[in-house]
Amino acid sequence: MSSERGRDPIIYLDNGATSFPKPPPVIEAVSRWFTEYGGSPGRSGHRMAIAAARLHFEARESMSTLLGAPSSRRIVFTLNATEALNLAITGVITRGDHVVTSSMEHNSVMRPLRHLAHQGVINLTVVPCSSAGDLDPQDLVSALTPATRLVVMTHASNVTGTLMPVPFVANACRERGILFLVDAAQTAGALPLDVISLGVDLLAFTGHKSLFGPMGTGGLWVREGVEVQPLVRGGTGSNSEDEEHPSFFPDRLEAGTPNAVGLAGLKAGVEYVLSAGVQRIRETEEAHTARLLEGLREIPGLRLHGGGSALGMVPVVSFTLDGLAPSEVGFLLDEGYGILCRVGLHCSPAAHRTLGTFPSGTVRFSPGWFTTSLEIDRALEAVRDIARRRRG
Ligand SMILES: Cc1ncc(COP(=O)(O)O)c(C=O)c1O
Repeated sequence: MSSERGRDPIIYLDNGATSFPKPPPVIEAVSRWFTEYGGSPGRSGHRMAIAAARLHFEARESMSTLLGAPSSRRIVFTLNATEALNLAITGVITRGDHVVTSSMEHNSVMRPLRHLAHQGVINLTVVPCSSAGDLDPQDLVSALTPATRLVVMTHASNVTGTLMPVPFVANACRERGILFLVDAAQTAGALPLDVISLGVDLLAFTGHKSLFGPMGTGGLWVREGVEVQPLVRGGTGSNSEDEEHPSFFPDRLEAGTPNAVGLAGLKAGVEYVLSAGVQRIRETEEAHTARLLEGLREIPGLRLHGGGSALGMVPVVSFTLDGLAPSEVGFLLDEGYGILCRVGLHCSPAAHRTLGTFPSGTVRFSPGWFTTSLEIDRALEAVRDIARRRRG
């Protein structure tokens, strides 16, 4: 969808960072929260607090429907995927555990793991992926040992869009009694997801990308029977007579006043996704990815990084142009053509080391549900133009 921001029309291709625009029901829900809700959910007993608590509960229910979770009690809301991943990682490991991850991870996985490894709490194995960003699942299985407690892996790379072999790894983990945490920041809302058939134990999501919620929303789904220690303890509005933190979900992993207004927006975003249909969203975004890949492949001097086939990716496409730094390309696209994308390392230095694009990174186009085919064509024309001018 072309938008006017200020004077200039723009083409927004940065949905991998955060989705834009947000659907009207999300904007209305956030605004309505301030006028019609406004109480603290689960705290006071007056009508505004009760209305806010109901909305909070409904957000959990919608999220649970989207993920195919058997019970909404096991959905825990956090500020973002980063907090959910930190909660899950620190909440399940104990000193001496072995943890396995891939070399395509975002820093929201890599940094907490590196920190715990440097502190001597865990032994970490990072399984190398190919220079196209693919993980051979057998390599990951070979890294598992009797001491492995946890495998953490992204569902789809935020650099190449590559879908990782989650069902295969889930199976290998289940057979060995190893916990499997999946980072679904790039897939929740973009791909049909069912936590039970995926076979994962913990799944972290963010609210502000393909779920169309506001920033400051996200969460963690925890399989029934999986024990997770809280990251923070405090007021929950429940068991207020008790100085010990509650042991039951979701209160156990949610302390402090929640981002109720953000969750009102997230609920509207998730309901929007459910009514549009995740499969329909997927097909539209797959078509955008295929169109982009086809067009980019024909541009002389352009290198795609990853980007095998649209079927095996989310709509995140990375490329470089010979002789031009990604930051220069990003600047030219923004200034000259109103095309907004992300350049550089995308908070994923390990992925760029894997792809051979460290330290300057790549240009990343991430179309979304509101992108049109015409916008994809205009973006391709702009890249063609920049590449042509570069060649002189
Ligand atoms: C693969 C991946 N994981 C985690 C995150 C972190 O998400 P958030 O910024 O919502 O914490 C992102 C965001 O870019 C991501 O792309």
